[in-house]
Amino acid sequence: MLKHIHLLFVLVVAVTFFYRVYLAERQPEMLQNKWLKIAPHALASVLLLSGIMLTVQGEWLSQSYGWIVAKVILMLVFIALGLVTMKTQGIRRWQAFGGSLITLFLIVKIAIAKQVLFFL
Ligand code: HEM
Repeated sequence: MLKHIHLLFVLVVAVTFFYRVYLAERQPEMLQNKWLKIAPHALASVLLLSGIMLTVQGEWLSQSYGWIVAKVILMLVFIALGLVTMKTQGIRRWQAFGGSLITLFLIVKIAIAKQVLFFL
């Protein structure tokens, strides 16, 4: 159940991020909307919270937990790149967007493998 909530929010965070990048390019004035400013933080918080609860519930910290540390660090990188994506324009925006896609891919890969391999 909790895992499904976690996965649902992974999807919602990804889709709403893509939507905001689309808006930033096509209708930037829409981003002034109060809800579009608050929602990303609320969604990311639920994602983080569900991740922390899964960690406690699955007693993942009593095993080798490098992958959890890696996920948390990469999630921070993902958030930072997301901010750069939204705040910049042109080539910088697409570089940051590309970086955030790679980061997201790595997080999912690490989540499934539950280990951090040298070559990821
Ligand atoms: C953008 C951020 C995140 C993404 C994309 C993500 C993605 C995923 C995915 C795809 C799974 C399912 C893997 C599987 O079992 O097949 C998963 C499980 C899990 N995630 Fe995350 N996650 C994110 C953030 C976090 C954070 C920040 C934490 C910890 C603080 C966390 C903790 C966990 C745990 C413990 C599981 C394993 C649940 C279990 O199998 O019992 N996640 N995550």
